Amino acid sequence: MPKTTKKAEVKPFVRFDYSRMTAERGNMMMPKADLIDLARRLEPVRAAVIKQWRSGQLGFMAIPERTADLKAVEAMAKTVGREFKTLVVIGIGGSDLGARMLVKALKPAGKGMEIRFIGANTDPDEMAALLRDLDWRKTAINVISKSGDTIEPMSAFVLLRDRLVKAVGVNRHARHVIATTDTEKGTLRKIADREGYRTLPVPADIGGRFSVLTPVGLFPAACAGIPVRRLVVGCRAVRDEFAAAKTMDNGPLMFAGLQHDGYVRRSQHITVLMPYGERLREFGSWFRQLWAESLGKRLDRHGKVVNHGFTPVAALGATDQHSQVQLYNEGPFDKTLTFIEVESPDADFRLPNPYPDIEGTAYMAGHRLGEILHAERAATSLALTENGRPNGTVFVPRVSPEAVGALVNFFQIATAVAGELLDVNAYDQPGVEAGKKHMYKLLGRKGFEKF
Ligand code: PA5
Repeated sequence: MPKTTKKAEVKPFVRFDYSRMTAERGNMMMPKADLIDLARRLEPVRAAVIKQWRSGQLGFMAIPERTADLKAVEAMAKTVGREFKTLVVIGIGGSDLGARMLVKALKPAGKGMEIRFIGANTDPDEMAALLRDLDWRKTAINVISKSGDTIEPMSAFVLLRDRLVKAVGVNRHARHVIATTDTEKGTLRKIADREGYRTLPVPADIGGRFSVLTPVGLFPAACAGIPVRRLVVGCRAVRDEFAAAKTMDNGPLMFAGLQHDGYVRRSQHITVLMPYGERLREFGSWFRQLWAESLGKRLDRHGKVVNHGFTPVAALGATDQHSQVQLYNEGPFDKTLTFIEVESPDADFRLPNPYPDIEGTAYMAGHRLGEILHAERAATSLALTENGRPNGTVFVPRVSPEAVGALVNFFQIATAVAGELLDVNAYDQPGVEAGKKHMYKLLGRKGFEKF
């Protein structure tokens, strides 16, 4: 039987240890003596982010105050959960990765609806696999698109709607669809209004990749049985701490500052995020979009060509120790590593000793699996440090809703700070829009003939 630990949640929900990002003497780590100077440079940056938040320019920072959205999500999830067994979530990018991450990390066993994802690709084989075993009478669709114009989710939607209508009839199908989209404009809003679908809002002032803690991610999570209110508790705690904590104790501020310092002074352009533990596997994919799309920019905020950006790498501990750590330890000095460590697993197993005379397994006897996972991270961090490789660790007490909400906002705020440091607009994505226009032209969409 697994040992099950149910511990009361204790603050802080996240703690960033950056002691191994610096060294006594400067090599490919930041010289320790420079920390004070970094902290001094970060203070006006924090002030700028807080000013933008307080003047209403940073929608994601005000998510804890969006209580009406939270209530709408909880009420809708309750009703939909009573009516249906499976929820098919359709979305891509910021309308997809956050919900996947929450469900993977937090779905309670045996509770909530079954959640299936589609629309993050236009892969017919993936669609065929989904359609193979769907029972339409017990299935609802949550189609998520802020613009309502994105081809991957919208092509999946029209296809699934067609199957749904064939299965339950045009009149009844509307009850099966919940559209999460802009409250006023866009193609999906038009469709939802025409069909009479139930809807949830994508806040106008929150971009896709910052929207996981809005109805975009919260509704699928609530349907999965996750207590979404607790995600917002963690999100708020990190935001308020960002505003109040001393610079050197300020996790998101120091994370962004250290990444930026490595980028400009030591050409460390690659950011590896390596959570330890299967439940956080999708966290890296969510972070990868946030960090890449927000900071990878041709122009700075004054229109000067800068071609800035970090290349994020999503790794998983301990799995990728046997795939990538060789490169991280001995390859080019072009990256920083950040581990995420979960201090207490929800369940644990003590190892037996079936072969006391064989040291290759006997040394493990009596140790717990969770303890081995801690040792894996600690050993990897130590080996990297010995080789002069900057690495930090974000600690969370458990994979609880509070901790995941806190982790999300840790990296969202860090992204906002990094955007300030690089002096780029972290909230647009002109490079993605250009590709979309070319594709519309290729597929014959009216209005894009001359693009
Ligand atoms: O972060 C973003 O804004 C993007 O990744 C979008 O989320 C993605 O392109 C999907 O857009 P939409 O929700 O409009 O379909």
